[in-house]
Amino acid sequence: MATQKHFIALADFTPDQLTGLIERTVAEKPDYLAGTGPSRLPRKTLALIFEKPSLRTRVSFECGMTQLGGASIYLAPADIQLGKREPTKDVARVLGRMCDGIMARLFSHEAMLDLAAYSPVPVINGLTDYNHPCQALADLVTVREHFGSLKDKTLVFVGDGNNVARSLAVGCAKLGLRFILACPEGYALEEGFLATVQADNPQADLSVTHDPAAAIREADVVYTDTWVSMGQEEQASTRRDDFAPYQINDALMGVAPSRAIVLHCLPAYRDYEITDSVFEKHATTILAEAENRLHAQRTVLAALLAEGGIE
Ligand code: CP
Ligand code: NVA
Repeated sequence: MATQKHFIALADFTPDQLTGLIERTVAEKPDYLAGTGPSRLPRKTLALIFEKPSLRTRVSFECGMTQLGGASIYLAPADIQLGKREPTKDVARVLGRMCDGIMARLFSHEAMLDLAAYSPVPVINGLTDYNHPCQALADLVTVREHFGSLKDKTLVFVGDGNNVARSLAVGCAKLGLRFILACPEGYALEEGFLATVQADNPQADLSVTHDPAAAIREADVVYTDTWVSMGQEEQASTRRDDFAPYQINDALMGVAPSRAIVLHCLPAYRDYEITDSVFEKHATTILAEAENRLHAQRTVLAALLAEGGIE
């Protein structure tokens, strides 16, 4: 596959390209933790567009740019609303005249594609309503570090068939992990999406179940995310009722194999999708996962902004 100039979806990358990003992240992490990693982006600036709130995405990109010797500019929801104050294509072209890269967290995935189409500099997707590829990349780094390899591991996503689940399904399909979505009726990933991922990755093992315990019995990784994503706040009450049997608690974890780890993209809503008891038992892995946002995205920044793209 061609060199990729943007980081918009894991589907745009070959298994070899994704494996390259993961292995490079694992290899370079010790030097950056020691403060001796190379400054690959001196005098470069990354614009950060946020239409939604963030802790991890903002801080990991800002720290990543600092570690690479560059700088970042945070543009809050009040500063930029794509398509409202001015067209997305104008924002893309103006930022591209001044900055060396754009990271954006948007509601609309179409707007993200528009941004990339018109931007003369690399665009990195920091979450849309459709997907969250930076999160899934960091998650796969975490699984690779914990187990030593990704091949034939089973990731069980318990909860909503949402943006994070969508990126994880693609990442698992490409890298040889089994992906099981355990969710209530009406909250699965679209059949058309799953069929496309399967067609693109004939070896993929993707399935949907409404029996979380049966899925968790098979798990190497038990993954969950909020039941109410940003922008769905008005559905909170219905969703909390519908998802209640899918809470990751001690009873459900009781059927998991002893080797199973728990991951959560965060923020975690205690006593909804996960209990504090399970969270704290698995806090080391969950916090390593959060930290890996920094390490994985630093790899993406170096490849896109310093080296001409992801090969
Ligand atoms: N997981 C994640 O993207 O966190 P933030 O929303 O805090 O950036
Ligand atoms: N699914 C969540 C992920 C937050 C990082 C959301 O979109 O709000």
